[in-house]
Amino acid sequence: MSQNTLILKHIKKHYNNENEMREVLCDISSEFESGSLHAIFGHSGSGKTTLINIIAGLDRPDGGEVWMGDRRLDTLGPAELALLRAKSMGIIFQSPSLVEHLTVLENVILPVLMYQRKADRNLALSLLERLNMRGKADRFPSKLSEGERRRVSVARGLISSPQLLLADEPTANVDEATGSMIIDLFKDQSRSGSCIVMATHDRNVLEDADRAFWLESGRLDSLHPA
Ligand SMILES: Nc1ncnc2c1ncn2[C@@H]1O[C@H](COP(=O)(O)OP(=O)(O)OP(=O)(O)O)[C@@H](O)[C@H]1O
Ligand SMILES: [Mg+2]
Repeated sequence: MSQNTLILKHIKKHYNNENEMREVLCDISSEFESGSLHAIFGHSGSGKTTLINIIAGLDRPDGGEVWMGDRRLDTLGPAELALLRAKSMGIIFQSPSLVEHLTVLENVILPVLMYQRKADRNLALSLLERLNMRGKADRFPSKLSEGERRRVSVARGLISSPQLLLADEPTANVDEATGSMIIDLFKDQSRSGSCIVMATHDRNVLEDADRAFWLESGRLDSLHPA
């Protein structure tokens, strides 16, 4: 097992809505290897974002364990989790939240500046180039389309070359060609050793993923390899 392998053991999560209890994740156990691109498919409301948030430590499971290599994450405190996220994770949220008073380029390098003084502007520019956003590096987010904001959030997730990249609907609001560019970047990143877990509705990426899963009724089943 590599140090970066992500392991989920018996993850459970429920929500209470208006006195009604909903079991979103029932008993999820799985391993996500470093150097691999994993895709989690499922209908809207099946729990994909809930699972991504639990892996990121942004939400706590009711039961079960989350491990990265030999480190257990679900019992870490908020400060340790924040440091771990800054150093080892890239997160692309389903709703791309950019800092409105920073430029596109500044938004991309922001995660790196959180734990080291200098950021690699050239790497940020080359990521923006590959996403056809190089020409908008000095723009402010309010002047971008939804798909352009998505591309900036993708570059921001990749800038630290993270051990673990969590991507929630990374190809939403972009056309097929742009979606392919994003998946190509993910493939390159996984080849350099990252573990990538992507939640998606986008059936186009099924064959691109090294492993694909289906999340339904709180359970995660392997789609391929079967
Ligand atoms: N904070 C919360 N409080 C109560 N219920 C919640 C909360 N977050 C999510 N849920 C419920 O949990 C279920 C799973 O939500 P989740 O956002 O994980 O689904 P999803 O698979 O990501 O959906 P989508 O594809 O639409 O993004 C939904 O029924 C949702 O209403
Ligand atoms: Mg979601």
